[in-house]
Amino acid sequence: MVTLHPGAPWWQSAVIYQIYPRSFADASGDGVGDLQGVIGRLDHLAWLGIDAIWLSPFFRSPMRDFGYDVSDYCDVDPLFGSLDDFDALVAATHERGLRLIIDWVPAHTSSDHPWFVEARASRESPRRDWYVWRDLGANGELPNNWTCSFHPGQPAWTLDEGSGQLYLHSFLPEQPDLNWANPDVEAAMHDVLRFWLDRGVDGIRADVIHNIGKDPLLADLSPKLARIPQQAVNEQPVTHEYLRRIRALLDRYEGERMMVGEVWRLLPEQTALYYGKGDELHLNFNLLSILADWSAATWRDSIEKTAAGLDPVDAWPTWVLSNHDFPRHRTRFGGAEATARAAAILLLTLRGTPFLYMGEELGLEDAVVPPDRVVDPGGRDGCRAPIPWDASADRGWGADPWLPWPPDADARSVERQRKDDTSILHLYRRTLAARRASPALRLGEQTLLPAAEGLLAYRRECDDDQRTVLVNFRDQPARFDPGERLEIEVASDGAHEGEPFSGDVRARQALILGRAARTSAG
Ligand code: GLC
Repeated sequence: MVTLHPGAPWWQSAVIYQIYPRSFADASGDGVGDLQGVIGRLDHLAWLGIDAIWLSPFFRSPMRDFGYDVSDYCDVDPLFGSLDDFDALVAATHERGLRLIIDWVPAHTSSDHPWFVEARASRESPRRDWYVWRDLGANGELPNNWTCSFHPGQPAWTLDEGSGQLYLHSFLPEQPDLNWANPDVEAAMHDVLRFWLDRGVDGIRADVIHNIGKDPLLADLSPKLARIPQQAVNEQPVTHEYLRRIRALLDRYEGERMMVGEVWRLLPEQTALYYGKGDELHLNFNLLSILADWSAATWRDSIEKTAAGLDPVDAWPTWVLSNHDFPRHRTRFGGAEATARAAAILLLTLRGTPFLYMGEELGLEDAVVPPDRVVDPGGRDGCRAPIPWDASADRGWGADPWLPWPPDADARSVERQRKDDTSILHLYRRTLAARRASPALRLGEQTLLPAAEGLLAYRRECDDDQRTVLVNFRDQPARFDPGERLEIEVASDGAHEGEPFSGDVRARQALILGRAARTSAG
């Protein structure tokens, strides 16, 4: 009998689906997605078989960073709907047995936020200290050599003409950094959390959370590091104190409210620090996986490094191939559908919580965005192309969307692919179902197995439930001897599912293999 590990928290076995609301679904017909649009497509997501949604920012914002520049944390931007729509979304999500986590952007506000407007009004403003201000040096020197993201090499300081001082911004000048060293700031951001937790959200995705703590001395970076935007190398002990207090706040709520962090650290042993002693982040995005190329050697290495970094502190891994900040993995991996299919099986069978970015289940590639339609300061428009829902003229949008369509939008639309059970969409659905049905895939131990070059092989095990996963990264077929009789449960190309595994792995094919007796018994 398989033990179902009823004690494991939901976020360990869940598959979390990221919705970038501007580009997901548009109910109002203005070409920008909205909350009612999301509600209208929840049945589709339930059909697909994901467990939870991470919703990128939908708060009031002047949209200079498309919502990651918040001007009111406790309201919905009219572009996306209203608080009533949000409450309806929470209810509709929960009715379908899904969970909802939302983005929380605690390290910086929009320069339009009333806090910053008040802070910059005068040096004596009671809110002045909510942000980080410094004087220009006698000879016009900046306070330090920190640079900001988005504008490579540009200072992380901008002069506020009115009050004559510089303020710190790790991203755009329109995104001033909050000063978490001021307890009022921390309290205000805790209030924001309570506002949404009280409305029923199941957790948060904490944006650039490593950047809430700042070096109190604002010391120069070494010349080598100074070429990197400061936030990407910011590492402060005080951040962990802040995180423990955020975690304590979450823990006071019923129902395992979860926090996944975005921390700009590449090595798992570094990201592990942000899990604390089980008293900081529940999960931390694994950047190794979003930066990995399509090679068996790279993935074997990432898997080993992830286990070596996280296992000693009992931290649960995450895997992510695409999100709203990077070119889609299908595009990064060269565009072949066979690769996108194999990647689906890889993402959904590794030990840890997978994050799936809307549209990857359709096999979407980045849109080719002509220069005159580029709107993002970071040039990330391609991966933010709208989801094609059907093959009609407006593809289910009611208006021309704010960004161009991804390639092959009709053929890859949800409607077309739902009708074709050989589609990549159906492959995602079958893989998600296989994962849901198997404690080994959801929560089991993971062992890398010896395999031919170009082939990645691992076993997942939980009590007497066992799966073997094979991913052939190469354009040539490979052989694998599992040493026992196994059956193909899921094949990335759909071939021979339910049949005994012959030892042959096709070029760019991935397979989930199970023990024959159990698989045929269901
Ligand atoms: C995070 C977000 C990104 C945003 C940045 C600044 O990295 O994922 O989209 O631009 O933070 O808030």
